[in-house]
Amino acid sequence: MPLQLLSLLISLVSALSLSLDTLGQATSLGGYLALVNRDYVLAADYEPDDLVRPNVKATNGSAILMRSEAAAALEELFAAAKDEAGLTLYAASGYRSYGTQSAIFERKIKNTGSREKAQRLVAPPGASEHQLGLAMDLKATPTSNLSASFAKTKQGQWVAENAHRFGFIIRYKEEWTDITGYAYEPWHIRYLGKEHAAIIYEMDIPLETYIAALRAAALSQDLEEE
Ligand code: DAL
Ligand code: ZN
Repeated sequence: MPLQLLSLLISLVSALSLSLDTLGQATSLGGYLALVNRDYVLAADYEPDDLVRPNVKATNGSAILMRSEAAAALEELFAAAKDEAGLTLYAASGYRSYGTQSAIFERKIKNTGSREKAQRLVAPPGASEHQLGLAMDLKATPTSNLSASFAKTKQGQWVAENAHRFGFIIRYKEEWTDITGYAYEPWHIRYLGKEHAAIIYEMDIPLETYIAALRAAALSQDLEEE
């Protein structure tokens, strides 16, 4: 990690009073910073206990439950896109159970012909942020596919520039695929809360790097206090 980044994060953990303990809570299951990817997977029976349906436009028949704080933030995001820029967004996929993710993943293996290819596009069961209830896939029209072209739409551009104001990040950017393990997905937003989302937006780093950096900073601060 560049030294400059470490010292910036040391000031941050100090400003947010993040010790290794509080950081542990924030990044553990139930915390909004929870890290889920192919290396850190969720148990098959994990289901958040505060799932609600956000009151937003959704594509036909889509399952769009989210944890309640994330759902309220999504409502604000959709309202601001409309009020500030006249843009309509559509929610396409929110919470997915382990079983649902498993079915989507198996379908992708069939379509791509290989587990290797499939797992960069769809998370294997347990490895999806959708199981956290903190992710939402967005569309610019009710009938568009989830594709990289979302980034070129007015909606996609507005979301990329403004999602952090409502506590969301673009989780899978093109330049981060080796770190996140997943292909470019400009449509997938992840709720972290406003403070963390704003810093990640400014630093332009993936969640994996951000959490590793916060841990290093909290550790160095804890050591200093000993
Ligand atoms: N498409 C993302 C990686 C997921 O399945 O969670
Ligand atoms: Zn997604």
